[in-house]
Amino acid sequence: MTPPPMLDGPHVAPAPLRVALLGLGTVGREVARGLLTCGSRLEQAANGREVRLVAVADREPARFEGLDLRDVERVDDGARLIGRPEIDVVVELIGGVETAGRLVAAALEAGHAVVTANKALLARHGADLERLARAHGTALRFEAAVGGAIPVLAPLAGDLAANRIDAVRGILNGSTNYVLTSMTEDGAAYEDVVAQAKTLGFLEADPRVDLEGRDAVDKLAVLIRLAFGVWPDVTAIRRAPPALDGRAQDHAKDHAKGDGPPGVTGVTAALIEAARRENLVIKLVAYAARGDDGRIAAWVLPVAVPAHDPLARTDGPENRIEIVGEPVGRVAFVGQGAGGAPTSSAVLGDLLAIARGEGSTWAGLPQAPTLAPDRLVDGMDAPRRWLTCDQTGGGGDKGGNADNGGGADNGGNADTGGGAITDRATIDELRARLGAARPGAVLFPVLEGS
Ligand code: HSE
Repeated sequence: MTPPPMLDGPHVAPAPLRVALLGLGTVGREVARGLLTCGSRLEQAANGREVRLVAVADREPARFEGLDLRDVERVDDGARLIGRPEIDVVVELIGGVETAGRLVAAALEAGHAVVTANKALLARHGADLERLARAHGTALRFEAAVGGAIPVLAPLAGDLAANRIDAVRGILNGSTNYVLTSMTEDGAAYEDVVAQAKTLGFLEADPRVDLEGRDAVDKLAVLIRLAFGVWPDVTAIRRAPPALDGRAQDHAKDHAKGDGPPGVTGVTAALIEAARRENLVIKLVAYAARGDDGRIAAWVLPVAVPAHDPLARTDGPENRIEIVGEPVGRVAFVGQGAGGAPTSSAVLGDLLAIARGEGSTWAGLPQAPTLAPDRLVDGMDAPRRWLTCDQTGGGGDKGGNADNGGGADNGGNADTGGGAITDRATIDELRARLGAARPGAVLFPVLEGS
């Protein structure tokens, strides 16, 4: 009897995906560890394709210690690895904008796929990097840039692509959520709990990036790109609550005057207590919505959240991201938003996606242009309820960054008491009514519906 014709050729193992890892910090070391110790699991998940760590780069030799790098090239400068034909993917976990940006751009231009967790880079240069990746026909993936471990960007670009996305809201910063949770539940002092967050590896190298809301704003910009198809100007997104008297309070040099302290730097025990009396919990919430006129309202603010809202019950370093769309309704993504090991899950997932040939995080979505400045608003004009709380507005640099020469007068988390809920009113109405009587008071929005 003649044998049946061979439908498949003999099995040939696919070529390995060769990875260069730049940056062996909190996340980078965990990614290296995963690649070095979970090879067979990753290979199975990559359709039988080996994902092989071939090179690592870090300026600090001590960071190579404790990892089995026998078969892995070590260099002090990632630039030496870019353009090398034996490297397929560059994983950028250096952080920061300038050096990392140069390396990512060079890697894309050289035809490498790139995986990055760098929200600051994407928020500032995402439109250019997207153009570059598309022009060179290579993949740029960045799941770890938002929500740490939480798979939210790929589902937003892929599984939810059939929807008209109306709004995105959530808790996007693990360290500040850890700080607020400890202040709320344990009565911990701001400075103490910031130090703990640093020890746990939740905070950025410059803690003010987290504490002043800049990290959450960067992540919101990345979500806006995938939800609404535009790259916003991240510096124009509000991250400081309005001050009641509207006077100049130059707490954040890069933010508008007339505001209170940015991010969580103005959250005091008195504010938390005032919220508690009203069955509210203070959370740093990020929000973006597309209006009927196509404009996008976006902000990251400390807000008073009703205690029954799931955002109020998102605690510690956990993040929660909710997407509201038609026809999906509301879906929520929850998980560990900071920390090396959890975040390495997202980076490794991106590497597997590249090994499987799945392309960039934006999947099949059209190229996103930069959002025109007049299309971005802060949505603060509408009447709403506010929690007012008096602040001294002084108090020195408590951003937790003593080594950085800082200098940001962040408003100081100084307690002077006070705290009351207003009726539904606009900022202008409240300023006219109360501004003179409550100099230094700050308006924290009460979260409603949305
Ligand atoms: N510093 C960030 C945070 C780390 O606290 O959320 C994860 O992006």
